[in-house]
Amino acid sequence: MFQWQDEKVLVTGGAGQIGANLVRRLNGLGADVTVADNLWRGKRSNLIVDGSPLIDFDTRFHELDLIDYQNCLRVVQGQSTVYHLADVVAGINYVFGNQLSLFATNVVMNSNILRAAIAAGVKRYVYVGTACSYPAEKQSQLNPPPFKEEDAYPASPESSYGWSKLMGEYECQLAQRENLIDVGVLRFHNVYGPCCEMSPEKSQVIPALIRKACNYPNEPFVVWGSGRQRRAFVFVEDVVDALVSVVERGMNQGVIQIGPDRSESIADVAATIVALTKKNIVIEFDTSKPEGDTDRTADWSKAKRILDWSPRTDIRSGLTITMQWCRDRIPTA
Ligand SMILES: NC(=O)c1ccc[n+]([C@@H]2O[C@H](COP(=O)([O-])OP(=O)(O)OC[C@H]3O[C@@H](n4cnc5c(N)ncnc54)[C@H](O)[C@@H]3O)[C@@H](O)[C@H]2O)c1
Repeated sequence: MFQWQDEKVLVTGGAGQIGANLVRRLNGLGADVTVADNLWRGKRSNLIVDGSPLIDFDTRFHELDLIDYQNCLRVVQGQSTVYHLADVVAGINYVFGNQLSLFATNVVMNSNILRAAIAAGVKRYVYVGTACSYPAEKQSQLNPPPFKEEDAYPASPESSYGWSKLMGEYECQLAQRENLIDVGVLRFHNVYGPCCEMSPEKSQVIPALIRKACNYPNEPFVVWGSGRQRRAFVFVEDVVDALVSVVERGMNQGVIQIGPDRSESIADVAATIVALTKKNIVIEFDTSKPEGDTDRTADWSKAKRILDWSPRTDIRSGLTITMQWCRDRIPTA
C-alpha cells in the first residue's frame, strides 16, 4: 500500500477547483503538500478551510507563472510526486475567444513542468487530460456510445484547449515510454463542485448558472445555447478519489478516463439549480451563444478495473453541495 505520510507532493494549480480539493484530501492523508499557482483563476481562499490554512503559505505556496521553465525547476526541487493540474481552463466563451494564446500557454507550461520534473528526479508525475480532446464529430449528436480511452484518436478536438490537453497526454506517454519518470494520466469529463470560479469572464457552466440563479432577478437567468447539449458531469470529490488512486495503483497504465456513463442536459441542470434556489426564476435560452459539443459520456470500465473507481455522487447531491458553497460566497445570495 502506498504510504502518503510525509510524502513530498507538489500540486500545480493547487489553488484552483480540483487542486484545492486535492490538497485538502492529501493533507488528511498526511502528505507534505506544496502548491504552485499564478492565481490566474485559483484563489488563496480556496486553501483556507474554516479559517485555517491547509498549507503554510510562507513555505509551501509559490505564486508564480509555470510557463517559465526556471520557475518550474524551482518548484519541483525535492518533490517525490507532482500533480500537474495548472492550465488555462475556463468557460466556453473564453476558450473559443482565446484559441491561440490558450494553446500556446498550455502546451509550453505542460512541457516545461514535465521536463523540470524529469530533470529534478521526481518519482511520480500525474497529468490530467480532458473529454474536450475527443473528436468533435464523435460528440456532434445526442446519445453517442460512451467513449473509450482510445476514441480520442484519430484526433480532431473542437477547440485548441482540447488539442493542448491532448498534446500534454502525448508528451507524458513519451516520457514514460523512455522510462524517464513514472506517469499517471487521467482524462476528466466535466468537473464541478466547491472552489469553482464564478466570475462572468472565466466561469464554466454550472458555477455560471448558480451565480445567475443567486443573483436573480438582478442578473437574468440566461442559459447559453439551446439547453439540449449534454455533458457527463463528475463531482470534484469523485475526481479527487481518482487522483489519489492513480498514484496508489494506476501509474504507467496509459490514459484512464474519469466520468459517468450518463449525461445531463444543460436545460435539466439549469432546472435543478433553479429548484434548489426556491425562487420563481424565468429560464431563458440564448441560441446566439455557443453551446459546444452536443453530447458525450464515459465508459469508465478501465477506471473501475485499475483504480477501483466509480462515480459516487449523483448530480442533485453534487449540485446541492456546490450551491451551498457558492451561496456562502456571493454577496447578494
Ligand atoms: N474543470 C473541468 O471540468 C476539467 C475537466 C477536464 C480537465 N480539467 C483539467 O483539470 C485541471 C484543473 O482544472 P480546474 O477545474 O481545477 O481549473 P482551475 O482553473 O480551477 O485550476 C487551474 C489552476 O491553474 C492555475 N494556472 C493557470 N495558469 C497558470 C500558470 N501559467 N502558472 C501557474 N498556475 C496557473 C490557475 O490559477 C488555477 O488555479 C486543468 O488542467 C484542467 O485542464 C478540468
